[in-house]
Amino acid sequence: MGKAKQILLARRPVGLPKPDDFALAETAMPVPGEGEFLVAMRVGSVDPAIRGFLDDRPSYIEPVALGEPIKGMSLGEVIESRHPDYPVGTFVRAFAHWSDHYVLSGDAWGLEKVHPQPGVELHHYMGALGPVGLTAWVGLFAVGEAKPGETVVVSAAAGATGSTVGQIAKAKGCRVIGLVGSPEKAEVIKELGFDAAIDYRATPDIAAEIAKAAPEGIDVYFDNVGGEMLEAILPLMRLHGRVAVCGMIGQYNDADHPYGVKTLWQLVVNRIKMQGFITYDYPDVLDQAQAELDAWVAEGKLRPLANLRDGFEKLPEAFIDLMSGKTIGKTLVRI
Ligand SMILES: NC(=O)c1ccc[n+]([C@@H]2O[C@H](COP(=O)([O-])OP(=O)(O)OC[C@H]3O[C@@H](n4cnc5c(N)ncnc54)[C@H](OP(=O)(O)O)[C@@H]3O)[C@@H](O)[C@H]2O)c1
Repeated sequence: MGKAKQILLARRPVGLPKPDDFALAETAMPVPGEGEFLVAMRVGSVDPAIRGFLDDRPSYIEPVALGEPIKGMSLGEVIESRHPDYPVGTFVRAFAHWSDHYVLSGDAWGLEKVHPQPGVELHHYMGALGPVGLTAWVGLFAVGEAKPGETVVVSAAAGATGSTVGQIAKAKGCRVIGLVGSPEKAEVIKELGFDAAIDYRATPDIAAEIAKAAPEGIDVYFDNVGGEMLEAILPLMRLHGRVAVCGMIGQYNDADHPYGVKTLWQLVVNRIKMQGFITYDYPDVLDQAQAELDAWVAEGKLRPLANLRDGFEKLPEAFIDLMSGKTIGKTLVRI
């Protein structure tokens, strides 16, 4: 029956992950039991959240144990099935692990069928037409309650989530300011239609720059990074502003020393609602979100950006690249 390839956690990373923290291994091909199906990975998702699963500390899922495969989202094709709803040839997305073949049951976390449309490359269903788009939509509209005419600020704006947030906010008629870490990223988001792009590394006073771009204040801050950026933005929020806390990537490589945000009193001053979220906690809105994302892509209002690599064994390299802050768009590995 052949072997399955896996990427294992060889050692817990300290700071930025290194190649030796991971190991490529072979294992017996898993066999689906009654009610299960065998999936061949086609697109592996490379996500900042994985960094949190590699530390031995509580998170919203159990940490990866040493010697075990890395956990993550994956898009694959059913190649053997003992589940009537998931016949051979079905494409599925689910929270799985870095294994080129894995077994799922019908109640796997985040399990969704994917229906690839002609002319749309499969990897986009793991990006703007998949979890990335859904995360942007849920954070911006379900959590952030963004409305036409409002001012939205998003950090890590050239990244997977940020570049999608900015484009769908524009599609809904918001004004959008993107915060990025390089001139190249600033160019990318301006081309995507953001109203303003601020390179935070090139300005000594980020709060002053944002205030210039949003003189009447910010209605929604879509936070991807946490830390000093969050601290600078809270005093710039408008009355009844909303902060959708999607992630705090600025903290992940050094989670023992989180930045202490000193402006939390502004939550009271401006009656700000600040809420963290996990996309799949909002199952009731996902169909609407998916339909709008599909329509925006079809209309050319949402251009998915992807940072692609090919080959299962490239997963660790792609992850290290992502966590070093250099990437533009959604980091994915095609198998
Ligand atoms: N809540 C959910 O359900 C959910 C789902 C998916 C993702 N997320 C979160 O969303 C955020 C963005 O994820 P993504 O997948 O879209 O990643 P991404 O934005 O494509 O890539 C990461 C970007 O974050 C920025 N960054 C800032 N500080 C960093 C640091 N210390 N180290 C590395 N990068 C840093 C960099 O952009 P600049 O150079 O522009 O700063 C970098 O390019 C993360 O916090 C992630 O955990 C949450």
